[in-house]
Amino acid sequence: MVTECLPEYAERLIRGRRATRAFRPDPVPEQTLRAVFSLAGAAPSNSNTQPWHVEVVSGAARERLGEALVAAHARRDLSLDFPYSEDLYRGIYQRRRQQAGERLYAAVGIHREDHAAREAYHAESLRFYGAPHVALLFTAPNAEVRMAADVGIYAQTLMLAMTAHGVASCPQGLLSFYADTIRAELGVQDRKILLGISFGYPDDSAPANAITTPRAALDETTRFHT
Ligand SMILES: Cc1cc2nc3c(=O)[nH]c(=O)nc-3n(C[C@H](O)[C@H](O)[C@H](O)COP(=O)(O)O)c2cc1C
Repeated sequence: MVTECLPEYAERLIRGRRATRAFRPDPVPEQTLRAVFSLAGAAPSNSNTQPWHVEVVSGAARERLGEALVAAHARRDLSLDFPYSEDLYRGIYQRRRQQAGERLYAAVGIHREDHAAREAYHAESLRFYGAPHVALLFTAPNAEVRMAADVGIYAQTLMLAMTAHGVASCPQGLLSFYADTIRAELGVQDRKILLGISFGYPDDSAPANAITTPRAALDETTRFHT
């Protein structure tokens, strides 16, 4: 391995991944799909348990799933395997969350007070932001936080593998708010779902894909002890 190039490659790979919210319709070739998902399987996990089960949905199945999700959303038919409450994100986390939302809505031309337009954009995202594929990341029926962490590590490994192959992605926690709908559509029995990752080739002309999301300064998140 030519290790002297790796820092530069890592910079390009890790900073080159970004949440993409508009896609071209052309599908990712099967060979690339297999390469990307094989590479993602190299992710580390607690005691090498690899507690992820991945359903990759494309074509007509993806169309049906998107319709079912939009319908479930309209019925307010929510079902979550991992609990969520509106006051989960507080203080600095809430401020960062608000800023991310404001940047996105400004980019797509939605005024901050236009709640109807925000809601419509949110609902439409259940069609995977127009991506031709979505990967749903499930874990074991009895999973708790430890296994969820492993699936999170898998998710990032998967997105980086995609980036390396020129495939753009958007992690969508929102999809996991409709766990029963997804299980019913895909014929999954009792596994818990953590998130979905919509993916495909990016529409580089879309305003939603022009945003950059800042990060906290190193000192804000990390202490070095000696
Ligand atoms: C676990 C997880 C869930 C997310 N859920 C959503 C979502 O439901 N909808 C969405 O548009 N973006 C979602 N995102 C994308 C984040 O908003 C995005 O990663 C963050 O703002 C940083 O931007 P970047 O990915 O472009 O660096 C999610 C990201 C993660 C890691």
